[in-house]
Amino acid sequence: MEKPTRIAAPKGKLGVLLPGMGAVATTFMAGVELVRTKKAQPVGSLTQMGTIRLGKRTEGRSPKIKDLIKLAKLEDIVFGGWDIFPDSSYEAAAKAGVLDPHHLAMVKTFLSKIKPMPAAFDREYVKMLDGKNVKKGKNKYEIALQVKKDIANFKKKHNCSRMVMLWCGSTEIFLTQDDVHSTPEKFEKAMQENHPAIAPSMLYAWAAITSGIAYGNGAPNLSVDIPALQTLALQNNVPIAGKDFKTGQTLLKTVLAPAFKARMLGLNGWFSTNILGNRDGEVLEDPGSFKTKEESKLGALEFILQPHLYPELYKKIHHKVRINYYPPRGDNKEGWDNIDIFGWLGYPMQIKVDFLCRDSILAAPIVLDLVLFLDLAQRSGMRGIQEWLSFYFKSPMTAPELYPEHDLFIQLMKLKNTLRWMVGEDLITHLGQEYYD
Ligand SMILES: NC(=O)c1ccc[n+]([C@@H]2O[C@H](COP(=O)([O-])OP(=O)(O)OC[C@H]3O[C@@H](n4cnc5c(N)ncnc54)[C@H](O)[C@@H]3O)[C@@H](O)[C@H]2O)c1
Repeated sequence: MEKPTRIAAPKGKLGVLLPGMGAVATTFMAGVELVRTKKAQPVGSLTQMGTIRLGKRTEGRSPKIKDLIKLAKLEDIVFGGWDIFPDSSYEAAAKAGVLDPHHLAMVKTFLSKIKPMPAAFDREYVKMLDGKNVKKGKNKYEIALQVKKDIANFKKKHNCSRMVMLWCGSTEIFLTQDDVHSTPEKFEKAMQENHPAIAPSMLYAWAAITSGIAYGNGAPNLSVDIPALQTLALQNNVPIAGKDFKTGQTLLKTVLAPAFKARMLGLNGWFSTNILGNRDGEVLEDPGSFKTKEESKLGALEFILQPHLYPELYKKIHHKVRINYYPPRGDNKEGWDNIDIFGWLGYPMQIKVDFLCRDSILAAPIVLDLVLFLDLAQRSGMRGIQEWLSFYFKSPMTAPELYPEHDLFIQLMKLKNTLRWMVGEDLITHLGQEYYD
């Protein structure tokens, strides 16, 4: 891809459309409102708090990312979305139970005004849920056209100059690529014929892309990770990114595994288990949805450790991932990892990680960063898969001939170098020989 020659200024309102307005989406919207009314800090958000080094270490130039490159202002964001439950975002946030009552009270008026539009939904793809706020239509194509109409109406009503759609909906059943996903024409015909390989999340993605707006995928659903939609993204000059927010256990996995590999320490096994009691956990009780999540969580180790290059160290790894729905914990997930490594002469060692985290608190700043960076990509004329946003995903999308980069710090370097490249600053290689001439 060519370097952007001109980055359009972020003038006017940015519409943020969220299919799925549950725990993550409402925590994100409430947080943005609390930050822009100066009642809280945007902790966890690289776009709001991160800096970026420019030039040599001796130059002392480390502006904030948002000062280097013009990102949309939080004050200019307007929110909308779809859900199968008609609850306002205040009611949904209260049910999700992520935020304390004092935070909820501060955003009650704001969240009460955000009401979900009827969803494009089919129980076949999320078996554990059933709701009434759902679109009706002759076939999937008609439903997708209704989503397009919603997008156009929202844009007009809120006078948006740009829009981004980010999937924060449930995890759908496991799907693999099918022939109907291969071209835009076959995809459209399949929507008209109600083909089972077309999931609701794909209808939103198709509607966004053909409306010329960026689409990101926070769940492990196949969704936009198919050639038909990727071709359409290129044709419509739309950036796309996915999939599955990298928040808790996988975040730590993609920090620890690169450390073992860097020191040439071997690995015999990695057992990861979780207890969580939110609706996401309930949806993942269904084996079809769990399989989608499992695939997403399992991929990282293989790509980081490259067993084909280091067979003595990583050829025989027992990697298991379990997710257990346990209502008393609500959104406060506990993720345990037992890691069996080995060192010099093959002597075994163990590492135990017990992460008492908060799922949506970790996900919300990622949603914000993705929204702002996808808008930046769109204003810069960058289209198709945005691999530089891999930093935020458990299963990063890449060009078909590439393997995904999972190492968090390679991903961060890729992201920051992309920003430097976009504004014409030198890329940072970390070579450093010039300081010793
Ligand atoms: N929180 C995290 O740390 C994290 C990390 C990675 C991925 N995710 C993914 O993010 C997604 C959201 O998580 P959550 O905790 O907010 O879940 P949630 O269950 O609280 O919210 C999801 C919402 O999506 C709605 N929904 C389902 N299908 C829909 C459709 N077709 N159209 C519109 N709405 C639909 C549901 O009714 C629900 O309200 C899940 O897929 C989850 O796996 C979350």
